[in-house]
Amino acid sequence: MKGLILSGGKGTRLRPLTYTSAKQLVPVANKPVLFYAIETLVEAGIRDIGIIVGDTKDEIIAAVGKGDRWDINITYIPQEAPLGLAHAVKIAEDFLGDNRFVMYLGDNMIEESIRPLVEEFSTGDSTYQCQILLKQVPNPESYGVAELDPSNLEKVVRLVEKPREPQSDLALVGIYMFDHHIFEAVNNIKPSWRNELEITDAIQYLVDKGYNVRPKIVKGWWVDTGKQADMLEVNRLILDRVERKVEGVVDRDSSVNGKVIVAKTAEIINSVVRGPAIIGEHCRVVNSYIGPFTSINHHCTITDSEIEHSIILENSQVLDISGRIEDSLIGRNVVVEKSPIKPKAYKFLLGDNSKVGILC
Ligand code: TTP
Repeated sequence: MKGLILSGGKGTRLRPLTYTSAKQLVPVANKPVLFYAIETLVEAGIRDIGIIVGDTKDEIIAAVGKGDRWDINITYIPQEAPLGLAHAVKIAEDFLGDNRFVMYLGDNMIEESIRPLVEEFSTGDSTYQCQILLKQVPNPESYGVAELDPSNLEKVVRLVEKPREPQSDLALVGIYMFDHHIFEAVNNIKPSWRNELEITDAIQYLVDKGYNVRPKIVKGWWVDTGKQADMLEVNRLILDRVERKVEGVVDRDSSVNGKVIVAKTAEIINSVVRGPAIIGEHCRVVNSYIGPFTSINHHCTITDSEIEHSIILENSQVLDISGRIEDSLIGRNVVVEKSPIKPKAYKFLLGDNSKVGILC
């Protein structure tokens, strides 16, 4: 089986971060979301992976490389514009050929291994042309959902995008398995109202033509990291399973409690770090409190401040902030500091679509 990871797109819901950077490279527990996708496929035994790339192509290639890190082959497939998930399949036809493949949305994360499902689909019953992963959700109206045949729960009969009156609570997880019949589908469907070739329409085409689409319900967590709250949620879930590893300097006046990773070149001075948390290479945490579910990426400085349940990207500084920072996603090279000069006032330099919460 081959893998196809979609790492193009617009990322509008994660602006302003995505004005300057790919959303798939936002780190969760200091590792890009996209690496989790690659590792899920590698763990399932897939060694030949195509990655769809868009405007952020150069940055993705610089971060991922040729795949040597995982001892796999990576092929980049440029998409001229984000014309839809099914369009991404269409342009990958030369790479995929006649192989069965797993398509994986590069901003999705899933708890459990997909190895058993990949094995079943690759070697098993060839009467199934497609296998889709589904997750029971409390708010199906916000997702693409699949309806199953009531007399045969092994069969998908209908897919509906964000249904107003959902007939099913099974949301489509961003992981799909196809054989070559999907190319017939993507070449026959028409763009939707938002001018995208929709993967739900392509799968519905398979169903309507009498091909077999098999549902697989996942039990563990699944997060589509497209928005800030989802990023923080998946950061919490991943940090919860890290193992303590304190390699950096922790001075006598500091305490580092619970599941905490402190990288080799990091320094914790006169501070409290309460895990689960991760402090990256070359960070300095001085006179500060780092609370649970916080990821601080490399080369950050935190002094005289308190941070909890947040993600801070590389080269950023939080200096002398009196109120606790919580539930925040702070980008690269950001400075949040106490304003030293009068008049006493808030002073901002914020990009478009930034969001700031002030204590009044
Ligand atoms: P989405 O989250 O559906 O779309 P998006 O990235 O444009 O984000 P937003 O809705 O916030 O504007 O995309 C899911 C994944 O698929 C994501 O990793 C981007 C990728 N993708 C492509 O590679 N090509 C495409 O044409 C589309 C629509 C998405």
